[in-house]
Amino acid sequence: PVLVVDFGAQYAQLIARRVREAGVYSELVPHTATAAEIAAKNPVGIILSGGPSSVYEEGAPQLDSAVFDLGVPTLGICYGFQVMAKTLGGEVANTGLREYGATDATIVTDNVLLAGQPVDQNVWMSHGDQVSAAPDGFDVLARTAVTPVAAFANDARKLYGVQWHPEVKHSDHGQRVLENFLHKAAGLPADWNSDNVIAEQVEKIRAQVGRGRVISALSGGVDSAVSTALVHKAVGDQLTAVFIDHGLLRKGEREQVENDYVASTGVRLITVDARETFLDALAGVSDPEQKRKIIGREFIRAFEKVQSDLIAEAAADGDPIGFLVQGTLYPDVVESGGGSGTANIKSHHNVGGLPEDLQFELVEPLRTLFKDEVRAIGRELGLPEEIVGRQPFPGPGLGIRIVGEVTADRLEILRDADAIARAELTKAGLDAEIWQCPVVLLADVRSVGVQGDGRTYGHPIVLRPVSSEDAMTADWTRLPYDVLSKISNRITNEVREVNRVVLDVTSKPPGTIEWE
Ligand code: XMP
Repeated sequence: PVLVVDFGAQYAQLIARRVREAGVYSELVPHTATAAEIAAKNPVGIILSGGPSSVYEEGAPQLDSAVFDLGVPTLGICYGFQVMAKTLGGEVANTGLREYGATDATIVTDNVLLAGQPVDQNVWMSHGDQVSAAPDGFDVLARTAVTPVAAFANDARKLYGVQWHPEVKHSDHGQRVLENFLHKAAGLPADWNSDNVIAEQVEKIRAQVGRGRVISALSGGVDSAVSTALVHKAVGDQLTAVFIDHGLLRKGEREQVENDYVASTGVRLITVDARETFLDALAGVSDPEQKRKIIGREFIRAFEKVQSDLIAEAAADGDPIGFLVQGTLYPDVVESGGGSGTANIKSHHNVGGLPEDLQFELVEPLRTLFKDEVRAIGRELGLPEEIVGRQPFPGPGLGIRIVGEVTADRLEILRDADAIARAELTKAGLDAEIWQCPVVLLADVRSVGVQGDGRTYGHPIVLRPVSSEDAMTADWTRLPYDVLSKISNRITNEVREVNRVVLDVTSKPPGTIEWE
């Protein structure tokens, strides 16, 4: 792989995705990895990410300097560029001159890294310190009005660096910089694509599972739909998909799984009605983390019940059963602290919320993939667009969209409001523009309203439309006022107990997408 060394920048994952978009497989590693640990992963290229710190700050993230002696083509970006400069004997200075946002850069020396690009280009910067002198043996490739060394290269050692962020779309030729580094400087072919991923995963799944029987956690979402289809392709009827109706689903979701999904995959499906069990387990609980843990635990418990039936069946055929498919994605792994030592922000139910007495070995064929890659694989596997193109919906479902205790009555209210919002957004043709639109019930909040001739004392519904590329960062979507107005009117008129609709205008960070 190409290893992206994560200096704690929100951009590290984005870099990894851009590298994959260039057709080269990439993974994140924490900056604390030693040169030996990095070498053990057999990297074909290394990219040092940006970071929030100054290289001179106390406790600033460092890199094992032996990484530069591995003979692996390496590209430093922003903070990573400065780490490379400082480690190899160049100079990094704090001149008090900051560059932030769109900046003009000028190429001063021809080099493979910036090949095929105009001499003057618009790049996206975000830095306080700057490289004031390149290390010996390095050519200065570009400068800006305030930064004398905005890019450098040592072709003999295949070490490169840019001060700007080539991974963001605001850098006009950013992707070209990455492609030049990968294909030209490092000589890597563009051979990472859906076909290869499917072939590789199918083989991996077969090797892991052998003749064992597999149960799949089907939730109705894209991730579990694709991971299940992938495992089905690998092991066919050794797989049984289990759909737990935990009562935290949106309107019509159960039917979609039971009808459309089965029709398109031919997967054997068992539906478990666990609505009462989940409600009982959630009774009296308002703490978000506790809800997530309970939902994660009950999921597994529900599977364990089905398991005994399936074990009996497998035993009759002489096969062991012991595998559980999970649609865990790479960002889940990273965000739960499994990828790069990043802080645990929320325990995602499919990673952090698993009980310790888990009876299954996990099969997680999407563990290294980003969402857009999962969708591409789903399409390649022939899943219908309504499933593959679905907006993300969290595993814990509506359970984390009721702020307060989850009850059957509140779920009913939220389901009705959510169905209206979804229908109106789709009708207005806005599905492609929004990443997802959580609809949240503030069950513990009441406000006064007037409806008909009387005073009401009802609950607010929050609309949380967000635009995002990967859910790691997001902005609130500027929905047209007339669409918001229509949704608000319909919800307050058609959904009992709701007398107010409010719009969440917070980006992520600081807010997360979900409210809990
Ligand atoms: P946050 O709220 O962390 O959400 O900004 C980021 C994305 O993840 C989804 N999400 C979850 N997905 N299990 C899931 O499978 C979970 O526990 C979970 N929590 C949040 C959320 O809908 C958004 O797309």
